[in-house]
Amino acid sequence: MELIDGNAIAAALIAELKATVAALPGRAPCLALVRVGEDPASVSYVRKKEKTAAEIGVTSRIILPPITITQHELETLIDELNADASVDGILVQSPLPKHLDELAIFRRVAPSKDVDGFHTLNLGKVAQEDPTGFVACTPAGIMELLARSGVDLSGQHVVVLGRSLIVGKPVALLALQKKAGANATVTICHSGTRELPSITRQADVLIAAIGRAEFVTADMVKPGAVVIDVGINRVADPTKKTGYRLTGDVHFPSVSPLCSRITPVPGGVGPMTVAMLMHNTIKARRQTAAAT
Ligand code: GUN
Repeated sequence: MELIDGNAIAAALIAELKATVAALPGRAPCLALVRVGEDPASVSYVRKKEKTAAEIGVTSRIILPPITITQHELETLIDELNADASVDGILVQSPLPKHLDELAIFRRVAPSKDVDGFHTLNLGKVAQEDPTGFVACTPAGIMELLARSGVDLSGQHVVVLGRSLIVGKPVALLALQKKAGANATVTICHSGTRELPSITRQADVLIAAIGRAEFVTADMVKPGAVVIDVGINRVADPTKKTGYRLTGDVHFPSVSPLCSRITPVPGGVGPMTVAMLMHNTIKARRQTAAAT
């Protein structure tokens, strides 16, 4: 079994992006990060995005509306960012508090600034294999991780566990694209799937994105498979200073000996997501610069 080192691959990508930013004409790319409320995981993710942006020379603007913000107020905030020529990319950290309509917020972001790739138009461009759009960062990071690890999906059976807008659906569409590195046969499984282990056992590449700690067990994995663990779950652990530990959607101790390759949690997909966000922000900056 070989570990896919997301930290090392993301570090290489970030070094490339830093050189790209340094060579850009005009002002630095600017990313607006909107976080509503104090969800601890969101606080940590936004901090990481801010840190990485600073590291590569991308300006970030952190906007922290109170948890009491209304749908209308948040939409107005997005409209202002859409109209602000000094902002290239806009990210609204998910999940939003329950009283807000998250999908309506994602759709409010101008498609040209939608560095998260959650807008209808950008998801549609993935389906149409139109490279001018933005690809959601976690799915894009998974594809980059596979490509840079020398895993060619062509003709392989990719099984995706989970159908979310953020990971499951877009990663399935990407693996399906008729192009180098992709061209896979794709199956999507979800909470309504019958005989789940019999399907996941057919996977040459298994992508677990269901958000349930250690859900994938050894009986669900074909020996020699490549396993990509997208889960980041906090489970209580009194032996840790923080009181919790992070674990993926895969039961690593039993599954890892079976695999040809596997991503760890943390240090697998997570760092790639942040790197792809920076990639998208640079792309947004290039497109706005070209349009003015
Ligand atoms: N929450 C978990 N992943 C993501 C992501 O890629 N983007 C945003 N905005 N929120 C998230």
